Amino acid sequence: MKHGAFAFLLSVVPCLTAGVLFAQDAPRLRGPEPFTKEVPAPPMQRQVTDDVRVMRNYPDQPPVIPHSIEGYAVDLNANKCMSCHARKFTEQSQAPMISVTHYQDRAGNTLGGLAPRRYVCVSCHVPQTTATPLVENRFTDMDALTEPERQPERRRR
Ligand code: HEC
Ligand code: HEC
Repeated sequence: MKHGAFAFLLSVVPCLTAGVLFAQDAPRLRGPEPFTKEVPAPPMQRQVTDDVRVMRNYPDQPPVIPHSIEGYAVDLNANKCMSCHARKFTEQSQAPMISVTHYQDRAGNTLGGLAPRRYVCVSCHVPQTTATPLVENRFTDMDALTEPERQPERRRR
């Protein structure tokens, strides 16, 4: 019995200690206060709505949204995004048309309209805020790997 308890302590205590140590390294989303203390929610971050299209980090990246989307409904009855980004509305809206992949199902068949898997735009396209990143971003643009002197000029976001 006694040996069992000792072996248990021997195996569990180091794990708990390691857990506490590693947990301190990770950024805490809820802030420095312990979870037992109620603190006021931080203010909402300001969205970037300057209408300037943002360079993609790689060709297949879903471009980020450079305009406000507040109150834009995407539900069973309506898709507000498509009222500007659908092919037939792009002349009036001057919005870039959804690309041809948005008309294809996962088998690669081109459909007559928006593919259901692309209906909920914001599951891939997101607005940006001026929030400071929680962790440092060490992403390297692929152009910098092949031609370091041609690293594209980036706006800090
Ligand atoms: C009132 C018209 C309008 C609506 C509605 C609209 N957009 Fe846009 N969108 C634009 C225009 C115009 C641009 C070009 C940049 C700009 O002017 O902001 C754009 C740019 C974008 C881009 C950047 C494309 C690129 O290549 O960089 C994305 C992504 C996007 N919109 C997604 C959305 C999503 C998702 C919704 C719905 C939540 C939406 N838009 C609703 C007009 C609209
Ligand atoms: C499953 C993820 C996904 C969903 C959902 C999605 N997109 Fe995209 N979108 C992408 C990707 C990835 C790209 C870039 C590569 C490409 O064109 O396929 C893109 C590209 C775009 C572009 C740029 C087109 C161009 O040729 O420059 C626009 C505009 C856009 N999407 C709007 C929308 C709108 C509006 C919706 C909702 C109706 C939507 N997307 C839904 C993934 C998605």
